[in-house]
Amino acid sequence: MAFDVNEIRTEFPILNRQVHNNPLVYLDNAATTQKPQVVIDAIVDYYTNYNSNVHRGAHQLADEATRKFEAARDSVANFINASSRCEVIWSAGTTESINIVANGIAKLLKAGDEVLVTEMEHHANLVTWQQACLASGATLVVAPISDKGELDLEAYYALLNTHTRLAAIPHASNALGSVNPIQAMTARIKSISSDALVMIDGAQGIAHCDVDVQAIGCDFYAFSSHKFYGPTGIGVLWGKEQLLADWPVWQTGGEMIAEVSYQSAKWNTLPYRLEAGTPNIADVIGFGAAVEWFQQLDKQAVLAHELSVLNCATQMAESFDGLEIIGSAQHKVPVLSFVMQQGHPADIGFILDRQGVAIRTGHHCAEPLMNRLNIPGTARASFAIYNTVNEVERLFEALEKAKKMLA
Ligand SMILES: Cc1ncc(COP(=O)(O)O)c(C=O)c1O
Repeated sequence: MAFDVNEIRTEFPILNRQVHNNPLVYLDNAATTQKPQVVIDAIVDYYTNYNSNVHRGAHQLADEATRKFEAARDSVANFINASSRCEVIWSAGTTESINIVANGIAKLLKAGDEVLVTEMEHHANLVTWQQACLASGATLVVAPISDKGELDLEAYYALLNTHTRLAAIPHASNALGSVNPIQAMTARIKSISSDALVMIDGAQGIAHCDVDVQAIGCDFYAFSSHKFYGPTGIGVLWGKEQLLADWPVWQTGGEMIAEVSYQSAKWNTLPYRLEAGTPNIADVIGFGAAVEWFQQLDKQAVLAHELSVLNCATQMAESFDGLEIIGSAQHKVPVLSFVMQQGHPADIGFILDRQGVAIRTGHHCAEPLMNRLNIPGTARASFAIYNTVNEVERLFEALEKAKKMLA
């Protein structure tokens, strides 16, 4: 289907609103995207027409809820090309997905093992591994980036050895936009340490990159629904079936058991063994609607549109006096991070907001990365499917005003 940004915009009701008497320009998509009407409708439909618990009810509503809930799993499995639907585990989001992996590996890690991360991590993909290493005596190894914000691949590969037990890699940096060559990296890691597991933090990859988990060759891929046009509070841990089938359970309770006595319990099969308790049914169904909605679009056309908006923003930024772009990797998701001589990012964010332009400012949950770059934080405009060149122009008009006010 041909991609028409103006048509897409009509599907997002929030884009019609005014903020401080200006039409909203929403450029905080790396934090969370807006939701199309079909997603909102799917959630309302569940609560209005067939609200019920899943898997265990002996009635029509439970049956309908279970069918939609499991259909959403099929949609996700299909979207990321999982080899089996039981490899798709529902979580609360990327953070919880990473914690499920860390919970499992914490029981395998020992002194002498190494966990390899990068200097561009979001805290979710850093603190989790840092704590797992502290608890097990394993060593956290941090691979460097260049000043442009690209992973130094030569240095990365030099850090690999037979002690590398886990490599946790961001598909893309939320603060800089840099996209990592995860497929090539996974192949290299596996060729050096056959024991190494590879986990991809896909929070920023899922909406803006091609994700085929079988082609990537990784062991785990984690992502959040809310950064991909779906609701908050729901996410996915994809993992290889042979790994997850024996993976230490995450939480215990109902749903995840096969058999229980007063003294012991046997675990359920995948995916349920990693999904204890009543799941977030409404949001799973909402996320299923988001994935289905996105899949009927031409993904390559969507990505090309997003990159053209980013390119336009980058060109305007390059000729904007006093502005420095932070993160100029060759391959980027649509993220423009910058600092301005004229003022602190927080002040810029405030002035832009008064003009209806929503960006994010601060360390973007990547404090060590900001320290590495010697800056307190950045202002970040991040784009999505519905953003336009006209909105980029609004951003720079607002920045002109901010510059004058702060001078
Ligand atoms: C790269 C990256 N990893 C992990 C996360 C955590 O995602 P969530 O807060 O949805 O769990 C984010 C959120 O911004 C992110 O950008």
